[in-house]
Amino acid sequence: MLFKSKLLLSLLSLCPTSLGFSQLKSRDTALTGLYTLTSYAPGNATLNGGKFQGRGGLLIPRIGSYCPSFVGTSCPNGTDSVFSNSLYPSSMVPGGQDLYVDVNGQIGITVQHSHSIPYGAYWSYQGWNWVALEQCSGNQCGCPVGDARYNCTKPTGYFTFKAPPPFNGSNPPGYVGGVMACPSPYDPTGTQLLAWAVTPQFNQSGCTPIVGLGTHPYSGINPPVWSY
Ligand SMILES: *[C@@H]1O[C@H](CO)[C@@H](O)[C@H](O)[C@H]1NC(C)=O
Ligand SMILES: *[C@@H]1O[C@H](CO)[C@@H](O)[C@H](O)[C@H]1NC(C)=O
Ligand SMILES: *[C@@H]1O[C@H](CO)[C@@H](O)[C@H](O)[C@H]1NC(C)=O
Ligand SMILES: *[C@@H]1O[C@H](CO)[C@@H](O)[C@H](O)[C@H]1NC(C)=O
Ligand SMILES: *[C@@H]1O[C@H](CO)[C@@H](O)[C@H](O)[C@H]1NC(C)=O
Repeated sequence: MLFKSKLLLSLLSLCPTSLGFSQLKSRDTALTGLYTLTSYAPGNATLNGGKFQGRGGLLIPRIGSYCPSFVGTSCPNGTDSVFSNSLYPSSMVPGGQDLYVDVNGQIGITVQHSHSIPYGAYWSYQGWNWVALEQCSGNQCGCPVGDARYNCTKPTGYFTFKAPPPFNGSNPPGYVGGVMACPSPYDPTGTQLLAWAVTPQFNQSGCTPIVGLGTHPYSGINPPVWSY
């Protein structure tokens, strides 16, 4: 239902002269199956198509992961962070893991054997909204094809974020939400960035707004990791 109303909105904003029925039919009306994520930022060649890994790392060619020694040769060796439904992480650990957005907007994934998120944080089904993209324009302009830090295929759609109001109140006036690419504390050279969700208490500096997190259908090793 949610996806259908989003599609209608996107359709209304398209230019009718460039739109054939076959193109309409080729657009996904819902997010189905497994997918990977990239930063969707048309017009920014540094950010657009940058691979999103694990807990929000951007422009990272291969996901870092944990697999206990008893799993041995059954440890999966996928290279990408894979999700299904509303940003549910795909991993092998019994019971799975959850993605969440902390009060300050930092994107996290619960550790293995735990489904607890920080006080006030948002579950992955709260705040994120998937918007379908038309699939008729091929590779996106300016994305460096062949660079392992990027996936230059146009996303099927993208996730935006706007925190729901707290149960006993409302968000501050003027709060609009969004997704930002910010400097990463893990990479002083600045070649890797960190995706943040803009919550009412988001307070990072040096960030670049991005349209959202682009979704790419995935058919590789699954689960890609034992644990993120
Ligand atoms: C593109 O993103 C990079 C990295 O965040 C930023 O430094 C740069 O200013 C952005 N460029 C534009 C045109 O927004
Ligand atoms: C993962 O392991 C399989 C089986 O050993 C191998 O065929 C494949 O190339 C490996 N993939 C990566 C990305 O290392
Ligand atoms: C909402 O609940 C929180 C946590 O109990 C409390 O700190 C806050 O003051 C409440 N806000 C309002 C507007 O009642
Ligand atoms: C944002 O964080 C900085 C550094 O922690 C702090 O000095 C500043 O007061 C914060 N601003 C807001 C609006 O919370
Ligand atoms: C990029 O995403 C497409 C789907 O949009 C997928 O088929 C392809 O394998 C991905 N490529 C890389 C390098 O991850």
